[in-house]
Amino acid sequence: MSLTPIGEPRRKITVASLRENKLQHQPITCLTAYDYATARLVDAAGVDIVLVGDSLAMTMLGYENTLSVTIDEMLHHAKAVRRGVKHAFLIADMPYGSYHVSPDDAVRNAARYVKEAGAEAVKVEGGEKRADLIRRIIDAEIPVAGHIGLTPQSVNVMGGYKVQGKDLTAIEHLMRDAVALDRAGVACIYLEGIPREVAAMITAEVETPTIGIGAGPDCDGQVLVFHDILNLTFQQPAKFVRRYGDAAAEITHAVQAFRADVLSRQYPSDAESYHLPKETKAALETVLERKSSMRR
Ligand code: KIV
Repeated sequence: MSLTPIGEPRRKITVASLRENKLQHQPITCLTAYDYATARLVDAAGVDIVLVGDSLAMTMLGYENTLSVTIDEMLHHAKAVRRGVKHAFLIADMPYGSYHVSPDDAVRNAARYVKEAGAEAVKVEGGEKRADLIRRIIDAEIPVAGHIGLTPQSVNVMGGYKVQGKDLTAIEHLMRDAVALDRAGVACIYLEGIPREVAAMITAEVETPTIGIGAGPDCDGQVLVFHDILNLTFQQPAKFVRRYGDAAAEITHAVQAFRADVLSRQYPSDAESYHLPKETKAALETVLERKSSMRR
């Protein structure tokens, strides 16, 4: 269950417990996190899966898209997130280029996430064409999350960020992708940017839990990007984004207030300053007095 009953200790989320969620029709919650502080907050709020998404390329590093971020940059963030997550299942995104060159390279990079960052699964974009590669990674004892539909690492092939699966051929293709991932034994399947009808069909067809983003309400779970729900992206949100807070306004307000306090010498106050111990203060005053009387 996503909401742990009051008084019950929180359990650790695992691949098996995510499957149980699907069987019990208990929605799975997932949010991205990219650093220690936000990971702690997301985990403590009871979210089931923390995803170190390659969306950090834009949200944290200011890149234009996800294509530039490297495995070393991703690892740096994943390690910080690991230190903040206790109960949630921790998935890290394999960035573009980290699994496209060779299967050996892909397994090596996935293993780095496990060894160096304590990731419990890695996420790979693509369906049918990635099934063999995904089996190789699973053979190395590393759970894998699939990701189909609008796959941002294929932006140049797709010709932009467009909703996928809109005609019968595309739907058939997506169904084949989902079934291939299901058979490969992935831990969960992210469905991004597809019509809700298609997401519902896939969810009903596969045994693997589906996690939707822009895929409607019939998936087994939902994921959103942390920066999207808190208005920290500096751009118009996509149709599926719901804002749950305005961190941009909160941060701007706090920073402006700090600046104004410094300029008007309201900060720091005496109470916010350290003071000398009484005896040292008295001794210092004596020394200063002596010095000034010698000058006179
Ligand atoms: O990188 C990311 O944040 C993602 C999710 C949005 C699924 O892949």
